[in-house]
Amino acid sequence: MTKILSTGAYLPKKVLTNDDLSKIVETNHEWIFERTGIAERRICSTDGGEWPTDMAEKAAKQALKTANITPNDIDMIIFASVTPDMKLPNSASILQTKLEITNKCTCLDIAVACSGFVYGVNMADSFIKTGMAKKVLVVGSEMLSREVNWSDRSICILFGDGCGVAIVGETPAGESSEIHATHLGSDGSGKEFFHQKIGGAVEPITSTHLKESTHFMTMKGREMFKVATRTLAENAKMVCKKSGISLDEVDWLVPHQANIRIIETTGKLLGFPPEKVIVNIQKYGNTSAATIPIAFHEAIEEGKIKRGDKVLFDAFGAGLTFGSTLLTY
Ligand code: UT7
Repeated sequence: MTKILSTGAYLPKKVLTNDDLSKIVETNHEWIFERTGIAERRICSTDGGEWPTDMAEKAAKQALKTANITPNDIDMIIFASVTPDMKLPNSASILQTKLEITNKCTCLDIAVACSGFVYGVNMADSFIKTGMAKKVLVVGSEMLSREVNWSDRSICILFGDGCGVAIVGETPAGESSEIHATHLGSDGSGKEFFHQKIGGAVEPITSTHLKESTHFMTMKGREMFKVATRTLAENAKMVCKKSGISLDEVDWLVPHQANIRIIETTGKLLGFPPEKVIVNIQKYGNTSAATIPIAFHEAIEEGKIKRGDKVLFDAFGAGLTFGSTLLTY
């Protein structure tokens, strides 16, 4: 059996409110809050100290302390991000050195957008169950402020920066904490709904892209919205079916925080009580792979999620990737 041993999170210090945004683009607090549930978001410093691997270092140190283990007890790092520090080397390897891990553990980056943390946890579960690893540090860390077009009001109001982590390991004998079931997938036919085509091998960034601001992320918001609600509801049902645990038995739903209306609609489709849904989108916006681990960590810190509770992670993102996890914390 496997379990989540501990969690951690780091949020950049700088707060950007909806009113601040209304000074940059034609928008206002009422529109943003009503349509998305977001009141403010955090933005990484560009002076250093808050790069994705810096945030991960701080969050991981917290998780290591809570789990009462040393950095060298980690034998695998899975780093989920679409905004890595740099193209090469991978962020997991950079984090390994920042944490002073000297055991030459496996370091793997995954780029599956907002589903990244759930992919990471589900992969960690498999690696541990097949004996490939014992303690896996799973990271979701994003600096989306770098990839957002700050003059496009349809997108810049949605995203923020932040990091959340979890350490996954074997369940000690006699304990009941367990990752019961996992579900992962992707539907590449929806790739046009949310993409960033410029800057890869096919079309490197040129001065024209920079001048025309065509190198940023672009999204078809309405299409994403429709797919999101359907996917999140299907994810939850699927992982319940796989685990043999009914949705009624789930204590907490921790969904990807993309839009409060997506979260509420998913809850309604599932007939799941809103008071059992963890929501923090008002404070941080959409931090992609980091939303679920930050929300999970905060709910534990606030005393909402307790050991023994049944928790369902539910994610979707660009790709269109999706995934869910059902666990007893
Ligand atoms: O992590 C996964 C990826 N993200 C998502 O899943 C996001 C999914 N989509 C959404 O959250 C929503 O579609 C948005 C929040 C992005 C947009 O909300 P919407 O209710 O779908 O608005 P809309 O795009 O249909 O725009 C409605 C109106 C338009 O004006 P008209 O044409 O009705 O006159 C927009 O021009 O609101 C206007 N608008 C804005 N007004 C003020 C669009 N953005 C803004 C803005 N401030 N920031």
